[in-house]
Amino acid sequence: MTKPLEGIRIIDFTHVQAGPACTQLLAWFGADVIKVERPGSGDVTRNQLRDIPDADALYFTMLNSNKKSLTLDTKKPEGKEVLEKLIRESDVLVENFGPGALDRMGFSWERLNELNPKMIVASVKGFSDGHHYDDLKVYENVAQCAGGAASTTGFWDGPPTISAAALGDSNTGMHLAIGILTALLGRDKTGKGQKVAVSMQDSVLNLCRVKLRDQQRLERVGYLEEYPQYPHGEFSDVVPRGGNAGGGGQPGWVLKCKGWESDPNAYIYFTIQGHAWEPICKALGKPEWIDDPAYKTAEARQPHIFEIFKTIEDWLADKTKFEAVDILRKFDIPCAPVLTMKELANDPSLRASGTIVEVPHKKRGSYLTVGSPIKFSDLKPEVTASPLLGEHTEEVLASLGYSKQDIFNLREVKAV
Ligand code: COA
Repeated sequence: MTKPLEGIRIIDFTHVQAGPACTQLLAWFGADVIKVERPGSGDVTRNQLRDIPDADALYFTMLNSNKKSLTLDTKKPEGKEVLEKLIRESDVLVENFGPGALDRMGFSWERLNELNPKMIVASVKGFSDGHHYDDLKVYENVAQCAGGAASTTGFWDGPPTISAAALGDSNTGMHLAIGILTALLGRDKTGKGQKVAVSMQDSVLNLCRVKLRDQQRLERVGYLEEYPQYPHGEFSDVVPRGGNAGGGGQPGWVLKCKGWESDPNAYIYFTIQGHAWEPICKALGKPEWIDDPAYKTAEARQPHIFEIFKTIEDWLADKTKFEAVDILRKFDIPCAPVLTMKELANDPSLRASGTIVEVPHKKRGSYLTVGSPIKFSDLKPEVTASPLLGEHTEEVLASLGYSKQDIFNLREVKAV
């Protein structure tokens, strides 16, 4: 089967997580992704948080599958020459260096466009061009703070809180992938490449869209009825942290199940969807609540929503999180167990769907990773191991027309 992105050559000048997540996705779908790395060291994540001495860290292997690795010192004239050749023969260049690094290397957008007017140049930065913080280097948590996620996550009596989900890094990479694919389609029509830029702040904010909704509602009416602060607590003039409250029109909360005293994840998320009130009452054995005016409507329930959650917790006390969900699913109640990484790693459904995959690796043996979360009817993305540092240097240079002697000479000056 030919893969949709086969024939698209991507220079992967990315490191850490945001950029690599983007190019990994494109590699799964068939693009020829050549990761350009500094000779000797490579992407910093090869060494970060190693669990096996002398083998690439999981941080690297889980973000760089299906790629080739070319070592190239792009600050040396010999290295620049190779890069220029590669640029002339590639469709996309993706980078997420600190602000100005590519320009300092001599590869500004203007220069890249001159070398290959059809090339798409895609960048991740912490802040967008022209933003008053556009000179800042940014990592995940910095972006979560700058993009509105931290101020709205956590409990009202605690500090701003970071999410474990990579809202700043991988999320930005996914935005960039959409931008690249759009620019490739655009190029089919115009024949021209273009610059695609995504900032981590913007990508986080895009996922915090409903919090900007809430800011405007708060300014208009002075309260937010779906937040735990309503109606007994106080609101200021900014969106508060809402703990585990549901973000939409249906209240929800994380509720204790059997064993919570010793198992920190013996919980389910329970949602009280308006039209599911009757099944909820039936599931809980509280049929008298169905028509009770104090419980009948969402508005009537809200002032004592925590008392309702407490009643549900009493019902959950003798049920594990899995037993509870098995009962509640029969009543069509939106809920799920709080799953640990261990449970997810061993989940047979996730293994069967290719969302959790085991990948053989030359040095590590095999490792688990998250495969494509996007499923197609005509494409089954296969995850192959991340490359060793410089594993494909010779192959890529030969494809650019370099002879064995040329490659030896480049090695002598430590350009590759
Ligand atoms: N050969 C020679 N030099 C190379 C090279 C190569 N193959 N690859 C990179 N370099 C150089 C760059 O030219 C740059 O040098 P310079 O600063 O002298 O111009 C340097 O290596 C890389 O710098 P930088 O990207 O700033 O690395 P850093 O470790 O100081 O900062 C980040 C890391 C992630 C904070 C920064 O890259 C950044 O803010 N990126 C944009 C936002 C982002 O993607 N952050 C999330 C990462 S998950």
